[in-house]
Amino acid sequence: MGSIKIAPSVLSADMANLKGELDKIAGADYVHFDVMDGHFTGNLTFGVDILKAVKHSTNVPVDAHLMVSNPDETVDWYADAGADMITVHYEASTHLHRTLTHLQQRGVKAGVVLNPATPVCVLESIIDVVDMVLLMSVNPGFGGQSFIPGTIAKLHELKAMCERHGVSPMIEVDGGISSKNIAEVVKAGASVLVAGSAVFKSEDPAAEVALLQKLGNEAAQEA
Ligand code: DX5
Ligand code: ZN
Repeated sequence: MGSIKIAPSVLSADMANLKGELDKIAGADYVHFDVMDGHFTGNLTFGVDILKAVKHSTNVPVDAHLMVSNPDETVDWYADAGADMITVHYEASTHLHRTLTHLQQRGVKAGVVLNPATPVCVLESIIDVVDMVLLMSVNPGFGGQSFIPGTIAKLHELKAMCERHGVSPMIEVDGGISSKNIAEVVKAGASVLVAGSAVFKSEDPAAEVALLQKLGNEAAQEA
């Protein structure tokens, strides 16, 4: 297995057949679980009970992306439900250091997410703590949007910051990733790639996951 991880987003899955959809992505590295609260984002998705159902239906670790206004108060819900990794938005967290270290003390991997308009420099005082940084490459809310090209420059900036600090958190990119652009995103420094519509709207989601893993790992070796 290579170093590049693929995290299909169940936002684009057929929710009436969740178990069947999860079986199709049994070869993935994470299940990306997009929680939207209808407040931080103009869309409402799923919460704790569906997360428990996902955990009961797959052995693939769950990467919970909380697009909610009050992550400081609600992260434990998702940790209790079995999330293996939880990311909270910088824009929504007042007590980011406390929230992330609390998750880590519970044995959950903890990460911070930046919206497209939030600069990388805001991570300067938290980069030594995080297990993961997630850069949004679309504005959060919906699957199937186009990759925002400025994400590539942010990845380079983030890599430089990590090198300055002597740390190597996982770097995840979320939004508009497909077999067409994965190589460019990996070469810029990403190690975990979310793919919603590219996987679940394809004819063969299992083959699409394998293709993204292959293209991602080839790009990592060339980088
Ligand atoms: C967007 C979500 C994404 C979304 C990605 O707010 O955070 O995880 O599911 O979907 P695609 O891969 O279709 O852009
Ligand atoms: Zn997401």
